[in-house]
Amino acid sequence: MPFENLSLESIEKRLATREIGRSSTPNEVWETIGSTNTRAAELADQGASAGTFVVARQQTAGRGRLGRTWVSPHNAGIYLSVLLRPQELRGSHLAPITLACGVAVARAVERVAGVKLGLKWVNDLVYDGRKIGGILAEMPSGSTSQRALIIGFGLNMRMESGDVPEELRDKIGWLEAVAKAPLDSNQLAAELLLELETVYEQLKARLSKPILEEWRSRSVTLGQEITVSSGLNSLSGTAVDIDESGALLVKSSDGQIHLIHAGEVTIRTRDGKYI
Ligand code: BTN
Repeated sequence: MPFENLSLESIEKRLATREIGRSSTPNEVWETIGSTNTRAAELADQGASAGTFVVARQQTAGRGRLGRTWVSPHNAGIYLSVLLRPQELRGSHLAPITLACGVAVARAVERVAGVKLGLKWVNDLVYDGRKIGGILAEMPSGSTSQRALIIGFGLNMRMESGDVPEELRDKIGWLEAVAKAPLDSNQLAAELLLELETVYEQLKARLSKPILEEWRSRSVTLGQEITVSSGLNSLSGTAVDIDESGALLVKSSDGQIHLIHAGEVTIRTRDGKYI
C-alpha cells in the first residue's frame, strides 16, 4: 500500500459517523501546527460546532498530560483533536471520558492494524511495554468556550529512531513496527472518529458500565504492582480496579484501598521492567 499523507478528503471519504466530522464548521488539516488541541480550543472559542476535528501532519508544540511534550514528527503519527460540546460538563468527567477514548482507540487500532494495544491508566496506549499512543482531554477556559471539551489523540504510526529523543528511545514504539506492515492513517483516523462517536453516545446515555468493563479487559494496569506519583507524593501497591468516576483503586501493603484520581502510574512487570 503506498504511503498516503493524512488528508481531509481521505478521512472524510472513509467517515461513517453521524455527527463527528459532519458539523457546519469545516474540519481542518494542517501541514504543521503548534498543537491540534490548542487549535481546537481556538475554534471552540470562536463558536465552532460540536463534532469539528483538527488533524495535523506535524506538531511543533504537541502537548501531553501533566505538562509533557508529545513528540510529533512530520508524517510519523496521527495528531487529531475533536471538539465536543456535552450538555453537562464537569472536571470530574475528564477521567471517565479519557478511559472511554482509550477503549475507542484500542478498538479502531485492532480493526485497522490487527494489533491489540493495552490500556494503561489513565490515558496511555501501550504495546510490549512501549507507549504507542495517548489521549489528552481538556476543557478550555476561553470566554465563549463554555461546555467545550477537546479530545486530543496522538498515535505513533512510523518513526525513524532519529525522530525520537534519546531519553524516550526505549519507552515509545510505533504501530507499523508492531503490525509489521504499512498502515493507512486516514482509515485509522476515520475509524477512530467512529469509535469515539460510539463511546461518546454511550456515555451521554449514561451507559458507561460496558465501556468500563471493556477498559478493564484491555487494561495492562489492573492486577499489577504499581507506583503512582503526583508531585512529591507517591504510593505503591497493587492496582485492583477502577470505579465509575475513572479513579484507580490501589491496595497498599497494609491492605488499605486508596482512590487515585490523578497522577502518573509506573508498572513493574514480572520481568522487572518499568513501563
Ligand atoms: C499523553 O499521553 O500524555 C497525551 C498525548 C496526547 C497527544 C495528542 S496529539 C494531538 C493532540 N494535540 C496535542 O497537543 N496533544 C494531543
